[in-house]
Amino acid sequence: MLKLSVIGTGYLGATHAAAMSSLGFEVVGVDVDESKIAQLRQGKVPFYEPDLEDLLRAEVDSGRLTFTTDFSAVADCDVHFVCVGTPQKKGSLAADLTYVDASVVALAPHAKAGSIIVGKSTVPVGTAARLATLLKDLNRHVELAWNPEFLREGFAVEDTLRPNRLVVGVTSESSEAILKEAYAPLIANNVPWICTDLATAELVKVAANSFLATKISFINAMAEICEVAGGDVTMLAKAIGYDPRIGSRFLQAGIGFGGGCLPKDIRAFMARSEELGAKQSLEFLREIDSINQRARQRMIDLVRADIGQDLKGKKIAVLGAAFKPDSDDVRDSPALDIAAQIHAAGADVWVHDPKALHPARSRFPDLNYTENIDECMRDSDATLHLTEWKVYREIDPAVMKSKVKNPTVIDGRNALDRDLWIRAGWKFRALGRG
Ligand code: UDX
Repeated sequence: MLKLSVIGTGYLGATHAAAMSSLGFEVVGVDVDESKIAQLRQGKVPFYEPDLEDLLRAEVDSGRLTFTTDFSAVADCDVHFVCVGTPQKKGSLAADLTYVDASVVALAPHAKAGSIIVGKSTVPVGTAARLATLLKDLNRHVELAWNPEFLREGFAVEDTLRPNRLVVGVTSESSEAILKEAYAPLIANNVPWICTDLATAELVKVAANSFLATKISFINAMAEICEVAGGDVTMLAKAIGYDPRIGSRFLQAGIGFGGGCLPKDIRAFMARSEELGAKQSLEFLREIDSINQRARQRMIDLVRADIGQDLKGKKIAVLGAAFKPDSDDVRDSPALDIAAQIHAAGADVWVHDPKALHPARSRFPDLNYTENIDECMRDSDATLHLTEWKVYREIDPAVMKSKVKNPTVIDGRNALDRDLWIRAGWKFRALGRG
């Protein structure tokens, strides 16, 4: 049986390590962050991801899954998965590859002959080829491969154990054979296997994320048109989604996409295309990004249109801080960005979120945070629905009407039951519903 190492234990790495261990492999997770490793060793996940903690604890208890900060622990591993972050560089659209580069440099002296280093992080095309050359200088008995990851936060375990495809970029048949062995249990479950070159494998990931971002910004552009033309974007999305060539998923109009992936990935892709002399090919992504940013502004415009230009002293209830439901991730969260902007305009902003309050508070300590929806909405001048957690669809608008100062709700995610709120006496506003 192969032995595996996983470098980087964030959303991607922690999930990958636990999932591969659950397939029966011995896995060692490595991270430079001592406190993260200490938690993981006890079977604790340092962030919120449904199902992950149970899986992790079971695997740690089984003895197959271990964690360390010491790179020498990877010495007897056959495959090293690099799962570190590639955040946006400060002051630039490009990706910061410091952690990916450092991982390969740290692994190289410990990786045994015949083992392979497999990048899973999202990187600009050409990174793998560059790292392969670097690796040759550091340890010529180890090969590099690329194996992009498509997991969604909130479904990380499911997406890792039952992905809709496995994509690997390799430079030799032996690397493909090792990866096939590592993923044998998934291949046996008919997960499609796509083996290609390094560049294509890197590109598949950013192309997929660009397509998804484009879909979301497309429907948000339609929302803008619906607003001026008096249409309803939710009906429009439903109607076009029946065409199987279009499909109904990722056509949820609202305040747009955020998180640790889509925004920075499309920007890094644009930056890379420019370096490659193909700037024009991805120029449209700039527009995708602006439509996305505009959605946040349109939400704030709706608030002002309703309760007045001057937000000073107005109590605004914000339902949701995470960039999407079932996650505590607030990186580039449209919800939290809007809350902070409204706060900066002088409003008294109260934020509720089922899981993301702690990370939200660390990012914007000046907002008011509460674990209680009642307290959040009480005496408010407007209620903004910004992350579509299930609990918000369970709010009884009839009960809450008597508690707020002004029964206006603005649905930034087009996920609340409009008729229900209107019947309960609320003024209901939403993006893209004229
Ligand atoms: C994304 C990709 O889906 C995943 O394949 C990749 O590996 C990492 O990036 P993730 O960031 O977890 O995953 O979130 P995703 O579910 O794609 O949602 C991204 C953002 O788009 C969220 O802010 C979500 O609220 C928003 N979104 C999504 C919409 O605004 N409308 C939609 O219809 C769908």
